[in-house]
Amino acid sequence: MLRVSAFRLLGRRGASRVSLSEDFSLRHYSSGPLSVRDDTRDSRAYFTTPIFYVNAAPHIGHLYSALLADALCRHHRLRVPSDAATGFSTGTDEHGLKIQQAAAAAGLAPSELCDRVSAQFQQLFREADISSTDFIRTTEARHRVAVQHFWGMLKARGLLYKGIYEGWYCASDECFLPEAKVTRQPGPSGDLCPVSLESGHPVSWTKEENYIFRLSQFREPLQQWLRGDPEAITPEPFHHTVLQWLEEELPDLSVSRRSSHLHWGIPVPGDDSQTIYVWLDALVNYLTVIGYPNAEFKSWWPNTSHIIGKDILKFHAIYWPALLLGAGMSPPHRIYVHSHWTVCGQKMSKSLGNVVDPRTCLDRYTVDGFRYFLLRQGVPSWDCDYYDEKVVKLLDSELADALGGLLNRCTANRINPSGIYPAFCTTCFPSEPGLVGPSGRAQAEDYALVSAVATLPKQVADHYDNFQIYKALEAVSSCVRQTNGFVQRHAPWKLNWESPVDAPWLGTVLHVALECLRVFGTLLQPVTPSLADRLLSRLGVSSTERSLGELHFLSRFYGHPSPFEGRRLGPETGVLFPRLDQSRSWLVKAHKT
Ligand code: MSP
Repeated sequence: MLRVSAFRLLGRRGASRVSLSEDFSLRHYSSGPLSVRDDTRDSRAYFTTPIFYVNAAPHIGHLYSALLADALCRHHRLRVPSDAATGFSTGTDEHGLKIQQAAAAAGLAPSELCDRVSAQFQQLFREADISSTDFIRTTEARHRVAVQHFWGMLKARGLLYKGIYEGWYCASDECFLPEAKVTRQPGPSGDLCPVSLESGHPVSWTKEENYIFRLSQFREPLQQWLRGDPEAITPEPFHHTVLQWLEEELPDLSVSRRSSHLHWGIPVPGDDSQTIYVWLDALVNYLTVIGYPNAEFKSWWPNTSHIIGKDILKFHAIYWPALLLGAGMSPPHRIYVHSHWTVCGQKMSKSLGNVVDPRTCLDRYTVDGFRYFLLRQGVPSWDCDYYDEKVVKLLDSELADALGGLLNRCTANRINPSGIYPAFCTTCFPSEPGLVGPSGRAQAEDYALVSAVATLPKQVADHYDNFQIYKALEAVSSCVRQTNGFVQRHAPWKLNWESPVDAPWLGTVLHVALECLRVFGTLLQPVTPSLADRLLSRLGVSSTERSLGELHFLSRFYGHPSPFEGRRLGPETGVLFPRLDQSRSWLVKAHKT
């Protein structure tokens, strides 16, 4: 059989590349919306997770995508504490060949499979404390309206034409592949089968007449967008990758399938013989959620941050912005990209039987514990490996011993019998080391601690802006260690409340340590919301005092009054985070085998 390369498109006009038509002017895209910063940008923010395929149950990689978005969004709320200003969507991607085939293989109607698996995602996200404001399913009526309207916009702007698509299609990845991205591997019967080079999933040859989107016309506008906004795709290496992709020619994109082949999807308006390509359908979810096509969506778009895995970068950083530009809209404000979790060094897959069930992990390690682990260990720029011992070691050392131990040391009845946020003594700990008088006992390391914790919120915010949440947590953890060092150094358990010499210094040591804990609790809210809530409640911090704007670390040291001094601590609620290593029978079993 004669094989031609993928994307060989024979448009009705007889050309695979189409010159600019009169109704389509690039000038419109490269000057207008691209260069204009939306007025609402600063007041509203919209975060999204990818929408998840429903062909199989959720795993820890899916939860990780959702947690990154949740932490970013929660951190934004700490900066701008008004629910109305922040939107956060997640959901399930329910159409397409992949789902149609999975349902057939399971002997279910596609809608039955979708209901079942979508419910699993919803339950997981509820249990994991994902604070989304909307959960979209692409099978909902509101979404069909949005997708068909979006299609109409592309059509009206002359960006769709009918042509023959001939090339490879990978149903598992729902994407077209050029010959260079296909290799041959022995299949179950030993014969060589064509598979995607990147994912290893089987591909099949397709030739049919479809609607084609003039993607090729958007290469320059996309380059302009990315060159003009170097942080559009974060972290930087992914931005660079996309610019490199754009060095190559951009072929037009087939955006529909014959309905006889793919019936599980949204029909092309006015042509029931064709079903809209699932990626176009899926990407529009981001607009559906904010009310598109009703004008209200304009107050959210484009102040949007998409959180995605690296495997779906091309769809979000090339297809989606091009489609948006085509429909007369701006590209999203930010695309934050993360890498993948492997398990014991291998890719997670059903066939290898190594898929880690996130609900078991939430049970074993607690919701806060597992959230902390994934976000503390997950590094966006490279893949991370999962194994149980690593979770136990991290949580025991950072949450149970360091943070929990610190809280306990500073609030326990034997050390602080009055249960009061003690007073800070400015002569014991003057604002400058040179001023330390006879009653002062502060040392150089103590000043270093105060300075480290004072700059921590800004450092953490910068790490969030750069999508380096693990670095934010590393910085918090390092300050927790420093604070423990401070307490250890001054051993408040050796000081005596009854002694007029000791008492002011004892109060000061505890005051400083509690202030540090208040900062840690505030900054940990996006990652460990319930643990942070317990910590802050124990310190007596009310719900209106937990935003970044209200933080004001160690005011007394800086010469201002402190609202906390003399305040009663919250009630004792037990251990902040119990150690895992002794208490987990499943781990003992795992060690023995
Ligand atoms: N349905 C598409 C997304 C459409 S968005 C308009 C899809 N779904 S997915 O279920 O396959 O993946 C959803 C997210 O989970 C992606 O961000 C993907 O990168 C992420 N992960 C899937 N496996 C993963 C790991 N092993 N590790 C980390 N994240 C992973 O793609």
